[in-house]
Amino acid sequence: MSLIEFHRVGFQIGPKVILRELNLTVEAGETLVLLGRSGSGKTTALRLINGMLFPTSGQVVVSERPTTEWDAVALKRSIGYVIQESGLFPHFTVGRNVGLQPELAGWPKEKIGERVRTLLRTVSLDPDEFLARYPRQLSGGQRQRVGVARALAADPGILLFDEPFGALDPVTRLDLQREFPRLVTELGKTAVFVTHDVREAMKLGTRIALLEAGCLVFAGTPGEFQMCGHPEARAFQEVFRDAG
Ligand SMILES: Nc1ncnc2c1ncn2[C@@H]1O[C@H](COP(=O)(O)OP(=O)(O)OP(=O)(O)O)[C@@H](O)[C@H]1O
Ligand SMILES: [Mg+2]
Repeated sequence: MSLIEFHRVGFQIGPKVILRELNLTVEAGETLVLLGRSGSGKTTALRLINGMLFPTSGQVVVSERPTTEWDAVALKRSIGYVIQESGLFPHFTVGRNVGLQPELAGWPKEKIGERVRTLLRTVSLDPDEFLARYPRQLSGGQRQRVGVARALAADPGILLFDEPFGALDPVTRLDLQREFPRLVTELGKTAVFVTHDVREAMKLGTRIALLEAGCLVFAGTPGEFQMCGHPEARAFQEVFRDAG
């Protein structure tokens, strides 16, 4: 079943075309990686999924309903969103940050407390050690773990990741890249993951979608990507080979 569908999606701001005629589907349980250079439209495409932006032409359909017909709060609640630098509220503790969605949804305090502890354990953080800390008291990698826990709080079926590991040192980054697929699969989530790092794309994606200047130029498995003859795909293949 397709959980997310882009139907001839265009997005422009004034005369500036940012996405053009995008057709793409994301099946339940897969991790689709949106790969592309800086400015190719990856973040814009991601924001069209959770209703932070709406297409100026075409339709984005989530769980068989166009985003324009969703209740905005319900749509955002059914989709977890993880960004670079985590986007945590600096004046809230880790516990409060992670429990924010359930709190807004009116869960009883006790149930929120339990959920937050479970989530922190899911992302390999000891609740007793981290619950009461503030984001500034965490390392970058720990902040990203908390960001993932927060995105999971309302148990969304879909997770969106916008370069979540971009600001991390290479060793921490590798740790999270190893853990991430396990987490998504074990929890049965569907993920869309944005990166400009082709190695990360090859590692994490069940499929890769390549954007070039707002156009989708390739979509397929990592194996197919390596065989793709499109010049933009070749440019990324070269980086991949070069990186070893
Ligand atoms: N609010 C806006 N007003 C005008 N142009 C915008 C706006 N938001 C994005 N753009 C432009 O749209 C294009 C795509 O932006 P987007 O943020 O989607 O790229 P990206 O692929 O995520 O890039 P990066 O890898 O650098 O994050 C860029 O040229 C950007 O300058
Ligand atoms: Mg971006």
